[in-house]
Amino acid sequence: MPLEKFYVSKKVENLCAHCGFCETQILCPGVDECVGCGACVDACPNQAKILKEIYEARKPVKIKVDGETFEVPERITVLKALELLGFNVSRLPVSNSAKTIYAPCRTGGCWACAVLIDGRIKPSCITPVKDGMTIQTDREEVEKLPPLRVVSGFQGHPVGGVGTPYWLKPKGFKAKYIEVACFAHGCILRCPTCQNWEITYSSKEAPLTPSQAAERITRLRWLYGVDRMAISGGESTLNRRWLIQYLQNLKKLNPDKNARLHVDTNAVILTKDYIDELIEAGMTDIGPDIKALKLETFKKVTGIHDDRLAGRLLETEWNAVKYLMDEYLGRIFVGIGIPYNRKLISLEEVREMGERLASWEPNIQVCVLDYRPEFRRQDLERPSYQEMVKVKRVLEEAGLKCVICQTVYGHIGP
Ligand code: FES
Repeated sequence: MPLEKFYVSKKVENLCAHCGFCETQILCPGVDECVGCGACVDACPNQAKILKEIYEARKPVKIKVDGETFEVPERITVLKALELLGFNVSRLPVSNSAKTIYAPCRTGGCWACAVLIDGRIKPSCITPVKDGMTIQTDREEVEKLPPLRVVSGFQGHPVGGVGTPYWLKPKGFKAKYIEVACFAHGCILRCPTCQNWEITYSSKEAPLTPSQAAERITRLRWLYGVDRMAISGGESTLNRRWLIQYLQNLKKLNPDKNARLHVDTNAVILTKDYIDELIEAGMTDIGPDIKALKLETFKKVTGIHDDRLAGRLLETEWNAVKYLMDEYLGRIFVGIGIPYNRKLISLEEVREMGERLASWEPNIQVCVLDYRPEFRRQDLERPSYQEMVKVKRVLEEAGLKCVICQTVYGHIGP
């Protein structure tokens, strides 16, 4: 058998902090059977996992894809096998999806890449090929079953998210529950400051259908006595079919006019038609969390190093914000998030972001998030209270009239 190039994950012993995340929170076939999916590499907060290029001879396994039999090397993912068989694998949603697998997170959380494997829906990005496996990629077949996604962290929330109106947010440390929330796993971004990384990169929990998640959050609504039901992440929008059905189910279970269905998102794949569909499905509040204005800053904040992909994502998130303001202000609540930490973004760029937003709608709510030491940026210093006050002033000078800032002492403003 000829030698071929593969990737396997390796531990860099001197960087490993033995947190156990890669061993306990990721669906992994095991170190000796590594399929090179890279989920543990993305997930490790200490960068103690790397994908190493190796050359070896692997036995072929027979798989059936859409009725045709093929041979592919053992110990690779279904996604990789499909790619080897000529499928296009895309990080971004594609309109013509024939022979294309849309795989945005590649860590087993979003299930947007799911295909039918031996008759069951499974994420292709982390599932290993097996001899005799049957795979169906046809969307019509896949969509005969309800979509699935890993969603967790169902809880009462005392602070709310970016898309929570300021008048509901607690001042200082006074906390009472204002929303119930759940968190969708998987993200297309790789933010080194990810504050929900344990959710974003874990894939171990059983996935839920939209109706299961909607029922759980509705029960929590009544338990906590609140009207707002939020979904955040990870990135909530990655699996479009799942999210739309989740909102539809939620609306059916909560037909009263007080119910607020809140989506927090980085908006990087949020096209106009997607926004229309979300609103049609019942979304009443949205919090697009825009990461930067300049491409270099966006790459630094999001960990996306590919210029083309980063450029598309950045453009899409700004276009989404503009579209929401032009078409939906007054009909739904829109609150914008902006990151701040002086190591990641300059005050000048924050000002320019403020000027752009103010030129579209000066009264839009803008919430500045103080980016602090998390995940792979444990070296960052949390911005001081005084720094956040200064950021607020800069945005107000830029023309924005409703600026709130997350600080070490809770939210301040508007
Ligand atoms: S791309 Fe496979 S689970 Fe998200």
